Amino acid sequence: MPAPLDHLKKLLPPRILEIVERETPIPTIAARAGELAVADPGLVRADIGQISGFHPELEVLYGPPSGLNELRAAIAESWNLSHGLERGAGGLDRTNVAVTTGAAEGISVLFKCFASGKKVGLPRGFWENYLNGVALAGGEWVVIDYFDGEGRLDLEGLRRTVLAEKIEVLVANFPCNPTGAVLVEEEARALAGLIEELELLCIADEVYDRLRYDGVRALSLLPFAPGNVVTVSSASKEYLLPGARVGYVLSAKSELTDLVVRKMVRASSGGPNVLGQRLMLERLERDLIDLRAGREPGLLSSIRDEMKRRRDGLLQVLEDYGFGRVGRPGHEPQGTIFLMASLPDWWRGSDASFARAALEACCVSVVPGSAFGLEDAVRFSYGGMTVERIARLADNLHRFRAKTIL
Ligand SMILES: Cc1ncc(COP(=O)(O)O)c(C=O)c1O
Repeated sequence: MPAPLDHLKKLLPPRILEIVERETPIPTIAARAGELAVADPGLVRADIGQISGFHPELEVLYGPPSGLNELRAAIAESWNLSHGLERGAGGLDRTNVAVTTGAAEGISVLFKCFASGKKVGLPRGFWENYLNGVALAGGEWVVIDYFDGEGRLDLEGLRRTVLAEKIEVLVANFPCNPTGAVLVEEEARALAGLIEELELLCIADEVYDRLRYDGVRALSLLPFAPGNVVTVSSASKEYLLPGARVGYVLSAKSELTDLVVRKMVRASSGGPNVLGQRLMLERLERDLIDLRAGREPGLLSSIRDEMKRRRDGLLQVLEDYGFGRVGRPGHEPQGTIFLMASLPDWWRGSDASFARAALEACCVSVVPGSAFGLEDAVRFSYGGMTVERIARLADNLHRFRAKTIL
């Protein structure tokens, strides 16, 4: 049975196919001229569309629409090493990587390619920007539940919803923003099996893949269903670089990354930020030294360990002040930088009124759960909370609760 990505071009709406198939003489000439100039510095570059050679130390040249080749290669290598993929046998090379302007652009491009006129399943508790991406693509979204009331991965429920709602595109976001829910390997394998069986196209948003605590290090859906799953990830979270705007799309089908996403990026942002890519490359190269030596990547591990400390501290404070946990029932929130908490008994209003009041009176900013499709809950981010800030939050909550129940 052919997987959706085996007939990629048939999936694309006609207007997108037109962009993908249109010849692009400028980047084609520039790419070849760049290669030749490396071998022959005497080559006269009369194709360059920017001022150059005047203040070379001030210049930042345009980069390729699919990203700097050395960064694409480093991302592929780090993904192979941290996910146990062999190069050539399910492993990725640079052609399987398209760098984008943050994961946000990657996701938006994928929705445009695959969600036009289709129903898209979004996990209950979803990153709210998916709604914009689906709307821009002219799709329709449906909320789906990955877990049952006991917190088990609910494959039967998923199958029923997909068939009843005629869902063709599924968004999987593990570790999940906002709930911190993760899957373990057997669950990822089982979910991938269902995705294959139902011939779904799955956009796996794995921007928090390396921010997991309590055990499993990195776990992508991509290797379990390479003909159906397209992964999106980013340097924003794990490499502390959200402002650099570097994300990437990974696909086992290089036609998607090396052709379709490349053309779509050129048609939208033109190409990802070159300075941001250099910053990411520097950090990734440090971690690649460790990964190649079979060690935990030092930089990533230090970030992860700090995030775990903050998560543990915040969990304790929230428990002390009567907040419940929202997410995968019976499971710890084991990834991301977020905790979704149900409102405590001492708060009588809505999630939105809590968020407003807490901001003014308690000196903490939270996001109402309704922004993620979860009512009566609020999302806390510990990404910006030092240990001192967590202690201050406890003091502030103490005063806020006392004032509220007066
Ligand atoms: C689940 C999820 N996906 C994608 C993104 C976008 O990431 P980027 O900053 O790389 O665009 C975010 C950012 O918060 C996110 O939480």
